Amino acid sequence: MAAPLTEPERQHYFIARLKDYFSANADGAKAAEPAGGTGCAKAAVPAGGAAPKAAVVTFGCQMNARDSEKLEGILSEIGFEMTDDEAGADFVAFNTCTVRENANEHLYGRLGRLKQSKKADPDKIVSVCGCMMQETDEIEKLKVKYPYVDIIFGTHNLFTFPELLFTMLRKRGGSIDEVYTHGKTVLKSSADDAARLEKLLRYGSGKSNMKDIEKLCRKPVISVWKDSSDIVEKLPSKRKYSFKQGINIMFGCDNFCSYCIVPYVRGREKSRAPEEIYDEIRKCAAEGVKEIMLLGQNVNSYKGISAGADATMSFAELLKNIDDMCDEIGIERVRFMTSHPKDLSDELIEVMAASKHVCHQFHLPMQSGSDPILKRMNRHYDKERFLDRAAKLKAAMPDISISTDIIVGFPGETEEDFRETLDVVKKVRFDSAFTFIYSKREGTPAAGFEDQVSEEEVKDRFDRLLEVQNRIVDENLDRMLGGTYRVLFEEVSEYDPKLITGKLENSITVHVPGDVSLIGSIREVRLTENHRFYFTGELV
Ligand code: SAH
Ligand code: SF4
Ligand code: F3S
Repeated sequence: MAAPLTEPERQHYFIARLKDYFSANADGAKAAEPAGGTGCAKAAVPAGGAAPKAAVVTFGCQMNARDSEKLEGILSEIGFEMTDDEAGADFVAFNTCTVRENANEHLYGRLGRLKQSKKADPDKIVSVCGCMMQETDEIEKLKVKYPYVDIIFGTHNLFTFPELLFTMLRKRGGSIDEVYTHGKTVLKSSADDAARLEKLLRYGSGKSNMKDIEKLCRKPVISVWKDSSDIVEKLPSKRKYSFKQGINIMFGCDNFCSYCIVPYVRGREKSRAPEEIYDEIRKCAAEGVKEIMLLGQNVNSYKGISAGADATMSFAELLKNIDDMCDEIGIERVRFMTSHPKDLSDELIEVMAASKHVCHQFHLPMQSGSDPILKRMNRHYDKERFLDRAAKLKAAMPDISISTDIIVGFPGETEEDFRETLDVVKKVRFDSAFTFIYSKREGTPAAGFEDQVSEEEVKDRFDRLLEVQNRIVDENLDRMLGGTYRVLFEEVSEYDPKLITGKLENSITVHVPGDVSLIGSIREVRLTENHRFYFTGELV
């Protein structure tokens, strides 16, 4: 008996079928698969040879950005051309974030705007995926308020996208003989719909019956997995930038900070095998990538295991191995995100300080400076430990740039607690800080905490924090003025086409007069003007 297909083989099978389908349509020919059945579906793509267009809209963090590249890789392989024009695209995917309430609102705004173009072109395919789709309530809301969404999937089964698109097209065509959705699906519409459809079809092709059939055929295909223990490697991926690349080293989070939804929507921690990571880095380097960013919700708890090894590898070891291979393969810069202060080890600091390619930049989210608040946040460190970690980083690398995340208005935060946060900000003198107003996330422990802080108090504290932090950023940048630093050039400036925008090792933006030939290269730049959040400079 033949062995069952592996997951990548399964998905490659669907990619091949979809490729045939879309190229048949693009040639103006009638596609045999996956449409058919009742004949409800029209071609989902432009006729007459034009390639179908796909827009992938990404919200949230670097992890989501990386997932979107995988989605784009699959779409490109099927034959789609990428576009930024959501309204004009034949396929649109929204890769969602739900870390704070305003992330959710972004999605609803964008989906609402798509309504008209979907009305004008009912064959347009609209898909929603990502962190927000791991929440059952959000899916129910989509089904009621945005019934024109065709495919819904979650973070754990992004790799099944080819299969879901295939299933959706078959369903739109009224095909009921196969239901492809499989796996640990918590919400699945296809099986029930197939049964109803079969019943309706038995009544023949009366007008009202056909209407019901059409409606059913257009119900979304929903497949959201609760969790998954597997990492599916070797699927297509498209790179957004030619010279820099995010590389997943792990997925999920086990920390359960009391305010945070991420562990619920991204599942348990899973580390990729070191060899998979090295292979991907080598492949990127061969394609001209100069800078890599190792990605994970908490890279410090990386525990990768090599085939045949009996012990796991720590993040410090992984980072050292990666640094060691950079010279040979031509990678110039290595970054990573994010580190949890509770398990930032001395070993990691030593590896960084001794490395040749790891940027002296550290994102160390403090969240709060107050011990009781940190305890209630379930962060497992106190103010003293945080200050100690920051001091140790600075002692080992005097030129290091430290950035942080801060939440203002966590339930029960008093003026005294807030002053502790300000105190840490003044002592560490962060080079940048991402400041967030606490957002209540249903299902997290903090959502049930009493003493939610009033809106005025939160706003007042937020403004005070920004004032202190902005002054520090200004002073820190002033100290760099006049100096010469290495810059990786990334793109033409959004504001002035005569300027090329690049990044210093510490991630600060620099605009320099120049032309597109600079993009992708690393050059020495003298910083001439401090604009608080960016510099202008000149090539030396
Ligand atoms: N894994 C990373 C953070 C991922 S979320 C870490 O632990 O550092 C990015 C940031 O969003 C967090 O650091 C936190 O500051 C903020 N955040 C998460 N949940 C939030 C909430 N409910 N309200 C406000 N900010 C939140
Ligand atoms: Fe959220 Fe905490 Fe995990 Fe970061 S470490 S993703 S803040 S639970
Ligand atoms: Fe948002 Fe999901 Fe990242 S909730 S911050 S996109 S892990």
